[in-house]
Amino acid sequence: MDLSVTIAGVRFPSCFMNAAGARCVTREELETLGRSGAGAIVTKSMTLESRTGNPEPRYVPFPGGSINSMGLPNLGYRAYAALIHELKQFGKPVVASVAGLQEDDFVTIAQAINDSRPDLIEVNLSCPNIPGKPQIGYDPETSERLLKRVRRVVTVPMGVKLPPYFDPAHHQMMAPVLGRIGLDFLSLINSVGNGLVVDPETEKAVIKPKGGFGGLGGTIIKPVALANVRAFWKLFEGKLPIIGTGGVVTGRDAFEHLLCGASAVQVGTTLMAEGVGCFERLSAELGATLQRKGYRSPADCRGRLQEL
Ligand code: DHB
Repeated sequence: MDLSVTIAGVRFPSCFMNAAGARCVTREELETLGRSGAGAIVTKSMTLESRTGNPEPRYVPFPGGSINSMGLPNLGYRAYAALIHELKQFGKPVVASVAGLQEDDFVTIAQAINDSRPDLIEVNLSCPNIPGKPQIGYDPETSERLLKRVRRVVTVPMGVKLPPYFDPAHHQMMAPVLGRIGLDFLSLINSVGNGLVVDPETEKAVIKPKGGFGGLGGTIIKPVALANVRAFWKLFEGKLPIIGTGGVVTGRDAFEHLLCGASAVQVGTTLMAEGVGCFERLSAELGATLQRKGYRSPADCRGRLQEL
């Protein structure tokens, strides 16, 4: 089955891509994504300067999910800017994930990376792992001010990666903020921030940074991800494309994201566990599910979740 999708006028040869952060820091990792079955190459969230990140252990899988506190290890935006032209030769969209340690950084990086013409820019408002820095997406005023400044300097399609919200009041608060920016897509959700995974044998937290607190991913966050995809799909009446992220382990999980309103899906914890071979497996599984249910494409089932 043809699993290609179009988001903001950009064609993705498959609706599956890596989630920012998963196996996408180095040139080698990005090239491996280029040669893989992934429908796009999403970069690690980039900062002004290169970073080594937080002390290890900082990524640990566990049954049902993963916890991480990477601390934004990345090559710095100049290195990614220099790589984009080459990465585009793989014939799939290149998505630049832009972060920053302060508001001005986002604007500086977005302006510079935009000049390298990635196919899309995903502005990350939801890194939970920098000690002392709250997730921007939980502050509507800061989010609006920052995004308005970034939007002014970005000419390629621009979206925002948001943290999960846990109350409809928060979805309703954020939707008008996002609506005023002129966004081309949303990526939902980033990890569920500041979980704590404990090993009762060693009586220790499983990761070192932040006293063991880190972002949760994988199967355990899927219902939170689906709820956020669905909530924003409804608030924007299906008119703002959504890339769903969270708990995509099988083709069925991806199908659930599509039903809730996602146009495409990103894969984090599963990509970390399985490597880029997951994209062919997920594509085969989703293709089989769509076929069995009589859908002709990912777009054909988008948003068609029925309520009881
Ligand atoms: C990191 C984690 C995130 O969830 C994110 O959005 C950005 C960066 C990290 O710890 O590197």
